[in-house]
Amino acid sequence: MRLDKFLCESQDITRSVAGNMVKKGRVNINGQRAKSASIKVKPDDDIISLDGEPVMADAGFQYFMMHKPAGYVCANQDSEHPIVFDLLKNEKKLKNLHTVGRLDKDTTGLLFITDDGNWSHVMTSPKHDHPKTYRTFLAEPLIEDAEQQCHQGFMLNNETHPTKPAVLERISDHEVLLTISEGRYHQVKRMFAAMGNRVEKLHRENIAGIPLDPKLAPGEYRTLTPSERLALGITP
Ligand code: URA
Repeated sequence: MRLDKFLCESQDITRSVAGNMVKKGRVNINGQRAKSASIKVKPDDDIISLDGEPVMADAGFQYFMMHKPAGYVCANQDSEHPIVFDLLKNEKKLKNLHTVGRLDKDTTGLLFITDDGNWSHVMTSPKHDHPKTYRTFLAEPLIEDAEQQCHQGFMLNNETHPTKPAVLERISDHEVLLTISEGRYHQVKRMFAAMGNRVEKLHRENIAGIPLDPKLAPGEYRTLTPSERLALGITP
């Protein structure tokens, strides 16, 4: 592989930036100053360094778990509000990162972020039933047959199909755990509105059996562990 291609992939930079780094003498191969950006390197055997620091080969796609705080929006840019990617600004490879589905600005909790478009498509596609559990705090006491209504499904405004069966676990009259396997716009809030209620606070605790790491404070994130990746169908 050409040296500039290796640098582009590992540093998320353009070929001309990589060429300039080489020209300026910032890149060494096995301890020798690299003379040309087009020189061939073997990423598995050669030790390539930039400004004296070893450069690791591109490790492939990135997968993060974030504890989304309230007040941040799940968008790649927003002129009015902070975006969840502001919290990732120390990451080197920001290109192509996107959220796997969206949480509303005021919703907190588990959010996956990746640059693997195929995986996020599978995770959000309604064809694959990936359950998501929300701890929900309600303004009004929960109605008596809420469990049955959630199971039966709701015909929400401007929709052509009723919601899929959802599981409601009553913690108290004002607090429930709701598990849904779709991701329609404002779905949880609209389901409770259909029952004459209003969501005061919404927090996602679990996606497809993976719980939010309790060690993550709001705004913190980490990479997914190998066992989480395996459980989420991410191939090595
Ligand atoms: N349902 C909602 O209404 N809001 C969210 O943020 C997530 C699910």
